[in-house]
Amino acid sequence: MRVRAVLALLGTGILLAVIGWFWAGSFAPDDLSAADMGDVDGGGGTVRAERDRSGSTGMTGGGDHHDHHGGNGRDAGGHNAGGVVSVDRLVARSGPADRHFVLRAQQAGPHRYLINGRTPGPVLRVRQGDLVEVKLINESVPNGVTLHWHGVDVPNAADGVAGVTQDAVKIGQEYVYRFVADRAGTFWYHSHQLSHEQVLGGLLGALVVEPRRSTAESDAVALIHLYQGKRTVNGSAARLKINIRDGQRLRVINTDNGPVTLQVAGAGYRVLATDGSDVVGPTEVRDREVTVTAGGRVDLGLDAIPATVEISGVGWVDVNGGAPTTAGTQPELDLLRYGRHVPVDLQTATPDRTFRYDLGRRPGFVRGKPGLWWTINGKMWPKVPMFMVSEGDVVRMTITNHSGDVHPMHLHGHRVLILSRNGEPSTGSPWWLDSINVRDGDTYVIAFRADNPGIWMDHCHNLPHAAQGLIAHLMYQGVTTPYRLNDTNEPE
Ligand code: C2O
Ligand code: CU
Repeated sequence: MRVRAVLALLGTGILLAVIGWFWAGSFAPDDLSAADMGDVDGGGGTVRAERDRSGSTGMTGGGDHHDHHGGNGRDAGGHNAGGVVSVDRLVARSGPADRHFVLRAQQAGPHRYLINGRTPGPVLRVRQGDLVEVKLINESVPNGVTLHWHGVDVPNAADGVAGVTQDAVKIGQEYVYRFVADRAGTFWYHSHQLSHEQVLGGLLGALVVEPRRSTAESDAVALIHLYQGKRTVNGSAARLKINIRDGQRLRVINTDNGPVTLQVAGAGYRVLATDGSDVVGPTEVRDREVTVTAGGRVDLGLDAIPATVEISGVGWVDVNGGAPTTAGTQPELDLLRYGRHVPVDLQTATPDRTFRYDLGRRPGFVRGKPGLWWTINGKMWPKVPMFMVSEGDVVRMTITNHSGDVHPMHLHGHRVLILSRNGEPSTGSPWWLDSINVRDGDTYVIAFRADNPGIWMDHCHNLPHAAQGLIAHLMYQGVTTPYRLNDTNEPE
């Protein structure tokens, strides 16, 4: 009898100790450098000692790496004698900018944010190759703001992540972003301070990089956003009416937390670009819907005849008067097999680093709160991976999802090439993305070149998921940050 009681007590004690241990491990320090965050993952390459203070990772043989210099005209000579460079030094080339913008962030009420008095903010239009300078002024957002250039491979100092590449800009302060718009395409900008709150509340806008040789305004933007339960296109719940000429683009930007689908009635269409990268050999599509990932963009080429683009659950865009019919249900266009296959200059068969990004979910604690939380490679925030690379590395990553939900995975500062989905290789146009719609049960193998040094977020763009810990970072060896994640810098 007594033995049993003692054993039961002992069992309970052990159980409580184990729970307490998990609970205690679910907090991050109140003030943390992003460079020290998470568990180091060398992906089969070397990890230099300055990040490996804890000694928690094995050193394995590395390859020999050559420097590929990024296309962003970065200032050379950022490294100091110790071979360590601060994110502050990773900037665009100096000299006068080609385009200047001033964006004033304002808070108009609870969960309501404006840029220059409106939301979405102004459409910024620049030319490919322009050195762009944007001055962000915080007029009235008490929690501070930043701007992130979603999909543009900006130099790290312009990435706009509070606590990683800058401090959140407080009321009365400003921050200047400088980057070369090196790829023509459809992009967007949004705050990366308390982004699950500020992006939802409207601190965002479209960025269009027009091709170097193009004739005036040859396209239309349709930016999708949910404002306090109201679905809108370009900030309006009414049908959007546009007139475009043959071959022109409709640039659809999904700024919401979940995917949307586009259906075209009355005309065939082509998918001209995904996430700001042109599709090679886009053929005409009929009676198929196309998915736009959360955070992602799709450029549609429409025939000049009247057509209607229906955005699932959101609204309609009437093109040249609009079609009288609606499309009904349609199978999905598979971009894995769309367009013409051409070789890409990326040695994906012999990567320098190989990572896995495995998405799951299980009960546990995050910040001391019990719940069913997301896991990355089996662990919960703050034990998220820190993927380490060296400049010039070819990186291959396998993203798997068995979490029961879809996750739009977004890597900052790089575009990624889809190699395969669920074992099926990409046989269409090279499919470049920055936001990948990873559905439950999916496995994507992706590759990219590490050609833009810095510390880059790699997270779910369902922003509440990110706030619940679905984030990791890609970090280049020898890069450090003076910024801190704390109660004034909360990027998620
Ligand atoms: Cu659209 Cu981390 O961002
Ligand atoms: Cu998610």
